[in-house]
Amino acid sequence: MVHNTLHDRGVIARWRQFLPVSDATPVISLNEGSTPLIHSPRLSAIVGRGAEVYVKYEGLNPTGSFKDRGMTMAISKAVESGAKAVICASTGNTSAAAAAYAARAGITSIVLLPAGKIALGKLAQAFMYGSKVVAIEGNFDDALRLVREIGETEPIAIVNSINPFRLEGQKTAAFEIIETLGDAPDLHMIPVGNAGNISAYWMGYREFHAAGRAKKLPVMAGFQAAGSAPIFYNKVIEKPETVATAIRIGNPASWDKATVAMRDSGGTVDIVTDAEILEAQFWLAKNEGIFVEPASAASIAGLMKCADKSRGAAFDLSRIPEGAKIVCTVTGHGLKDPDVAKDRISGIVTAHAEKGAILDIIA
Ligand code: F0G
Repeated sequence: MVHNTLHDRGVIARWRQFLPVSDATPVISLNEGSTPLIHSPRLSAIVGRGAEVYVKYEGLNPTGSFKDRGMTMAISKAVESGAKAVICASTGNTSAAAAAYAARAGITSIVLLPAGKIALGKLAQAFMYGSKVVAIEGNFDDALRLVREIGETEPIAIVNSINPFRLEGQKTAAFEIIETLGDAPDLHMIPVGNAGNISAYWMGYREFHAAGRAKKLPVMAGFQAAGSAPIFYNKVIEKPETVATAIRIGNPASWDKATVAMRDSGGTVDIVTDAEILEAQFWLAKNEGIFVEPASAASIAGLMKCADKSRGAAFDLSRIPEGAKIVCTVTGHGLKDPDVAKDRISGIVTAHAEKGAILDIIA
């Protein structure tokens, strides 16, 4: 077996000393992590005041989302404990990651998905990786409740983010950002669904700060879809709705942890509408060449909202210093959800196979 660098070998190999693993832990990895932190000159210009905006492109993980960072930990620890099967509820990305890492480990995965609300690419992943797929007549919150109930009686390991190893793995994204920038950013913007990821980043930032690897801590700003914003409205949403199906969640499992992260960092939670999400998604693809799924664009839509004083954003950008560094996490790849691009594809123009006809069209 050839290994070039530690970075090629996944987050457990790269960040082993900061993770709860031992020699007894069988490392199940698909070389996740070490994703690019891409500087965005156009977002930086929109913010102004010399700000430098970076996009952490988590869609470049092995199954196309940040979930792989947590799943390498959750599946490795499940196998260490002797589990032969794992289960999760999902809006599509957790299930894709669970299915892939379980396949890699040679164990069974069972995924509970809200019927009719999973983006096509994610559904294809669950089936291709050989998962037992069950569509629930209900939403993500119902599916997670059922997973908890099944976990109480059956010998099946739960790999949702209520499993603490998931957040341990996901915190490594914050480590990477600190390593690349040489310090934590001033402000970190992130989509919020089940609220595990914002909690994991905050844990990672605090750990590196305590270890002396970062001099500062960022302000954490979370963004929910307006129709699925329980933390923003401070109440459970019984029937969450949004085009960003990944964050169509009404009762997040890590609600309290996320609230603490935003409070202790001096941050805020805000909402972005479906129209704002889709506009930001298209803008990022067209202007920076970064194609992300709708939920991921919530952080970009959020930054744009904050940059426009007339829109009443919860976070006041003038609070951060001149020349501040801002990181937006974009959580999943755009190819996961081809249906949202359909409207744009439907604008396709067919030409005769002849040069003149083509020149007429592109003129
Ligand atoms: N972005 C994407 C693409 C997601 O898939 C998720 C969550 C989030 C953001 C929100 O992260 O839940 O940690 O606050 N997806 C979960 C899933 C719920 O089942 O794939 P969070």
